[in-house]
Parts: sequence; C-alpha cells; structure tokens
Amino acid sequence: MSKNVAITVVGSGYVGLVAAACFAELGHRVVCVDNDEAKVQMLRDGGVPIHEKYLQELLDRYRCGRLEFTSDLRAAACDAQVIFIAVGTPQSQAGSADLSYVDAVASEIARSIDSYKLIVEKSTVPVYTNEWIRRVIERNGVPQELFDVASNPEFLREGTAVTDFLHADRIVLGMDTERAAEMLRRIYEPLASGDYYRKAHAIPGTRTEDDPPPVLMTSTKAAEIIKHASNAFLATKISFINVVANICEAVGADVQEVARGMGLDSRIGSKFLQAGIGYGGSCFPKDVAAFRHVAEQIKVDFGLLREVEKINLEQRQRFFRKVQSVLWTFRGKKIAVLGLAFKGGTDDIRESPALDMVKQMLHEGAAVRAYDPAATEHAKDMIPVGQQMEYVDDVYVAAEDADAVVILNDWPEFAELDLRRLRGILRYPIMVDARNLYDPSAMAELGFSYLSVGRAEVSPAALCGSSRDIAFLPQSA
Ligand code: UDX
Ligand code: UDX
Repeated sequence: MSKNVAITVVGSGYVGLVAAACFAELGHRVVCVDNDEAKVQMLRDGGVPIHEKYLQELLDRYRCGRLEFTSDLRAAACDAQVIFIAVGTPQSQAGSADLSYVDAVASEIARSIDSYKLIVEKSTVPVYTNEWIRRVIERNGVPQELFDVASNPEFLREGTAVTDFLHADRIVLGMDTERAAEMLRRIYEPLASGDYYRKAHAIPGTRTEDDPPPVLMTSTKAAEIIKHASNAFLATKISFINVVANICEAVGADVQEVARGMGLDSRIGSKFLQAGIGYGGSCFPKDVAAFRHVAEQIKVDFGLLREVEKINLEQRQRFFRKVQSVLWTFRGKKIAVLGLAFKGGTDDIRESPALDMVKQMLHEGAAVRAYDPAATEHAKDMIPVGQQMEYVDDVYVAAEDADAVVILNDWPEFAELDLRRLRGILRYPIMVDARNLYDPSAMAELGFSYLSVGRAEVSPAALCGSSRDIAFLPQSA
C-alpha cells in the first residue's frame, strides 16, 4: 500500500493553508479548498494571503505538483481519502463557538461520499463537535461503514506556524476506530518516525530524527478538550503574570525577575510568562470564551476563565492609563505607535490589543503615526488614514517630532532600535513600552523617560529628583 494519502483540506486560512502545505511537504497529495474564489485564484497564481515564514517556500515547491487549489468542495472531497476541516469557528454573540461553517462543510462533504472517507476536525471546536459532524453526515444518508470522524487539533502559532507544524511539541490524534487510527498514523508517519528530519530539504527546527514529536492517541472527545484546555491554560498563564506585574509595579519589584524566578521551576516553565497588554489574536479570546461556554452548558462552574477574561481587558485599560499618565492629555499630542498586529511576526490584526489602543488614543484626540512591519494594510481597513491617523513604513519617520513613542507589539526590530537616533528626533524623549523590550536603567541613562509593564517607571530626572517633571520638558531643555 502506498504510504502517501490523498488529502483534502477545507479552509485556506492560517490553519488550513499551513496544514495543506505541510502535508504536501510530507509527501501527500493535497487539494486545498476555499469558498473565497479570490483567495483560490491568488494561491493558484503564486500569491500567499498570509505572512508566515517558510510558507511561500513550501507553496512554491508544490504548487505545480502535489498541491492544488480549488473552490469545488464536492469534487475535492470525492477524490480524497481523508478530509480535514479547517474553516473558521468564530465567536458567536453568546460567546460560544459559531459552528455554522463546520456544519455547512460537513453537509457538503456528505453529499460526495461514495467510498470510505475519514473526516478530521482540525479547527478548534467544542467537545461533541465530532458527534455533530457524524450526525449531520448520517442524516444525509451516508451509512456508518463509509466514514469515520476524528479530531487532530492544531497547535500552531501565527508567525511560526510552519515550524510549529513540522517540529511539533506533540501530535494529538483523537479517534474511535482502528481504521481511522491507521490512516492518521500514515499521514504523520514521516514526522513520528523522524524520517522527515533526515531529508536535505527539511524545514529546520528543534526536532531531529532522534527526537521526533511524540504522537498521542486519544478518544475524539479528549482531543477536542486538549485543544481548548491548552489555549485556556496558556491564556490563564498570561493573565496570571499580568496581575503579578501589577503587584510588582505597586511595590517596586521587577516582573521580569519574578517571571524568571518562577519559570526556572520546571513545573511552571518559562514560556508564556511575558507581562504586557494582554493576549489577543484569533484564538485565545474566542477559545477562552468558547471553553467557558462549554462548561456552562454542562453545568460545570469555570469562573476562573471569567476572571482570566476580565484581567485581560483590564490590562489594556491599565496600559492606556499609563500612556495617559505621561502625556497628561491626549488632545493635540502626536504619538508614534510601533506595532499594530496582535503580536510581532504576523500581519494578523484580529483582536489586536494594539489596534484597540490606537482607537482609544484617536478617540481621546491624539494624532497617531503608526508603523508595523507587516500589518499596516490590514490595519488601514479597520482604522482608515485620516487627519489624525497616518501610517508610515519606518520607525524613525513615525517618531519624528512625536510627543512619545509607544511600543505595542514585539517585532524583533522594535527591540533593536537606534535609541540615540530616536531620542534625537522625538519631541520629548518618552517611551511607553507594552512589551518590556528595554532595560529601564539603560533607558534612563540614555535620557529617556521610560514606562514599561510590571517594572518601575524611570526617567533621567530620577538621577536628580522628581521622576515626572522631566517627561514634560522638551529634550533640548
Ligand atoms: C480558524 C479559527 O480561528 C481557528 O480557531 C480554527 O481552529 C480554524 O479556523 P484560521 O485558519 O486562522 O483559523 O481561520 P481563517 O483565516 O478565518 O480561515 C478560514 C478559511 O476558511 C477562510 O479562508 C475562509 O474563506 C474558509 N471558509 C470558511 C471556507 O472555505 N468555507 C466556509 O464555509 C467557511
Ligand atoms: C495561539 C496558541 O499559542 C497556539 O498554540 C494556537 O494554535 C493558536 O493560538 P497565536 O494566537 O498565534 O497562537 O499567538 P501566541 O503566540 O500564542 O500569542 C497569543 C497572544 O498572547 C498574543 O497577543 C501575545 O502577544 C500574547 N502573549 C503571549 C503574552 O502577552 N505573553 C506571553 O508570554 C505570550
């Protein structure tokens, strides 16, 4: 039997497109489906709709070979042995996951089943979704022996999605039949066996042939819960450190030192202990809400997640007040904003705390000149260019004659600014940094008033007197 599998991936967003490109990289024949005709045409023409390291390279490798793009779901499903569902699962008004796209796709797939198919949920979905997909397919008259439904959650982060996929911490396969297990094992065999990492063209990362990713076989329900619980736990970790940061700020301790001290405990771990303006993006906000909603529906009290959400929103407000505290009022002020995407390394602005911050500054009467290495075009759709809102393509152009520079996400280039040059072109040498990218005492020595998160505010005046007064003095004073 051929090792390669005929795969159809439905949905060409971050999850679907990256999965499709990576399955092709593993040697499988892949058809990627999307109902957005313009996106399909763009992909066929060699375009890439998202900013993701190595994605262009993989698409270029396989576009004219074993990776195809179409909007014809029925035909693509008909030809496939395995169909991955990776369409969006947005947040509904009630907070639960809106599964209408998954429902529609499942019905459409059902109409094309005339031989055995394995249908795999890859989108993040509430527990029991696999049961619903099964029911929808059966309702459409497909006999049980012609299909299985499995769950293979995806843990990729935007910006590092391709390496997260190919060098995964773990591969979770949830299924309830042996034939489904056999098919999923075949798909991931090149990674699980370590063979992939021996190849000359392998995308580099942390895994090696001697240390391949572990494969965890579970029930479908456990796999669904693993994904929701993982995202909710990481979001909890972020909210937790943000509250600790607020305590540090109040007592004059440094949250970076505290996070390091906590993270060195292997039971806690150092990742996702970076204090800031709270989490954003297309997953954490909606997945925390959806998981909480699942718990409510089955009468389990998960009040902890309500707190996590509350802290996350308060953290944004707290940071906004911090910017205000140094500018006094926003009206008439010019602010250089660095960062618009929900984090560095991506052009995604969904649920971006940075964009929320810019909206509030504009609302209060400030003029904003913003720079982001990748997200500007998307940001313009949300906040159009106007008298008060300008987008530029260089940090130093943004900073020219600004009353303050505000860093809102963690692109690596924001941590490597030419600070002397920056100080020379700002109207006032003030930096408010939501990502703690600089050392406060070094900033004070360079002549900056520097405010970050969970660390003491510093200013050049701290060397000789009141910390606040200097912030309002022009740099030449
Ligand atoms: C989304 C969710 O945010 C994530 O939680 C889930 O795990 C997978 O789906 P993402 O890939 O970032 O992740 O979503 P998005 O960029 O919105 O992509 C979904 C794609 O599916 C879009 O290209 C959309 O056009 C397509 N789609 C949507 C279909 O092809 N058919 C549909 O019926 C609905
Ligand atoms: C997340 C999960 O990490 C991933 O496993 C899942 O598949 C999709 O959701 P992503 O949304 O791409 O990935 O971003 P992530 O890097 O996890 O960051 C999410 C948000 O948390 C960002 O706004 C980020 O700035 C913030 N964050 C992250 C912190 O504030 N502090 C941290 O220590 C880590």
